[in-house]
Amino acid sequence: MQLSFVAFAIFLSSVIASPALESRAASCTFPSPPKTSSLSSAKTISKGTSFDGGNVRFDRGKGACTGQKEGGDKDAVFIVEEGGSISNVVIGANQAEGIHCLGSCTLTNVWFEDVCEDAITIKQSSGTSTIQGGGAKNADDKVVQHNGGGNVIIKDYCVQNFGKLYRSCGNCSSQKKRTVTISNVNASDGKLLAGVNSNYGDVATINKSSITMKSVKSVCDTFQGNSNGKEPKKLTSNTSNSNCKF
Ligand SMILES: *[C@@H]1O[C@H](CO)[C@@H](O)[C@H](O)[C@H]1NC(C)=O
Ligand SMILES: *[C@@H]1O[C@H](CO)[C@@H](O)[C@H](O)[C@H]1NC(C)=O
Ligand SMILES: *[C@@H]1O[C@H](CO)[C@@H](O)[C@H](O)[C@H]1NC(C)=O
Ligand SMILES: *[C@@H]1O[C@H](CO)[C@@H](O)[C@H](O)[C@H]1NC(C)=O
Repeated sequence: MQLSFVAFAIFLSSVIASPALESRAASCTFPSPPKTSSLSSAKTISKGTSFDGGNVRFDRGKGACTGQKEGGDKDAVFIVEEGGSISNVVIGANQAEGIHCLGSCTLTNVWFEDVCEDAITIKQSSGTSTIQGGGAKNADDKVVQHNGGGNVIIKDYCVQNFGKLYRSCGNCSSQKKRTVTISNVNASDGKLLAGVNSNYGDVATINKSSITMKSVKSVCDTFQGNSNGKEPKKLTSNTSNSNCKF
C-alpha cells in the first residue's frame, strides 16, 4: 500500500520533471498580449543566460520595418549570445530583424505576429540551436535564416503565410555544411518548408508524418549555393533525396 504510493509519487514527479523539450503538438493560437514594450535598441541576452518575456509584446517602434532591406544585429529586437535562451515572447510588427542568435540558442514559445525581413537569424559557428513552440506569420521571405554553421531544430511550430520556413544561406560569403531537423509543424499558405545547398552538403530532415501542410508548395528544395552573393539556382523541388530527407 505505502510502497505503491511511493512508487506512484516517484512516477508523478518524473512526469512533472520531464524535460521541457519533450515534443508536443504545434499550437497556432497566437497570444495577444495587452502590453507592448518598444525597445530603443536591441536587447542582448548575455552568454548562457535566459530571458522569459512573460508573453509581453516587444517591438522597435513605429516605422521599424522597411521591407526586405537586409539589416544587421543592431536592427534586431533581441541579440542572443552563445548558450542564451528566450521564452514566452511575442514580437510585434514594428521591427525589422527579429532575433539574431550569435551562438547556439534556444527559443521557446516565441511568436512573430508579422515578420519583416526575416524572423530568426542563426549565426552560430557550430552546435545546435532549437526553436520550439511558437510561430510566425506573414514572412514575405524567410522565417529562419541559417547563416552560421551547425544544426538547427525546429519543432512544435506554427507558420502561416510565408515564403520559406528555413533557408540555409544561399549566398553568404562564408559557406559551410548546415543541417536542420523539422518536426511537428503546422504550416499553411507558404512556398517552402526547407531550402538547402546540396553543393555544400546540407541536409534537411523532415518528419513528414508529423507535418500538417495546407497550400504549401514544397516540403524541401535544393539549391546550388554560392559565396559571391548571386541568386542561387534551384536544383530540385519537393523531391526526397540525400539532401532533402522526408
Ligand atoms: C493547424 O492550424 C490550423 C489553424 O489554426 C488549425 O485549424 C488546424 O486544426 C491545425 N492542424 C493541426 C493538425 O493541428
Ligand atoms: C542572396 O543575397 C541577397 C543580397 O544579400 C539576399 O537578398 C538574398 O536573400 C540572398 N538569397 C538567398 C537565397 O540567400
Ligand atoms: C515522426 O512523427 C510521428 C508522428 O508525430 C511519430 O510517431 C514518429 O515517431 C516520428 N518519427 C521520428 C523518426 O521521429
Ligand atoms: C510535395 O510533396 C508532398 C510530400 O510528398 C506532397 O504531399 C505534396 O502534394 C507535394 N506538393 C506538390 C505541389 O506537388
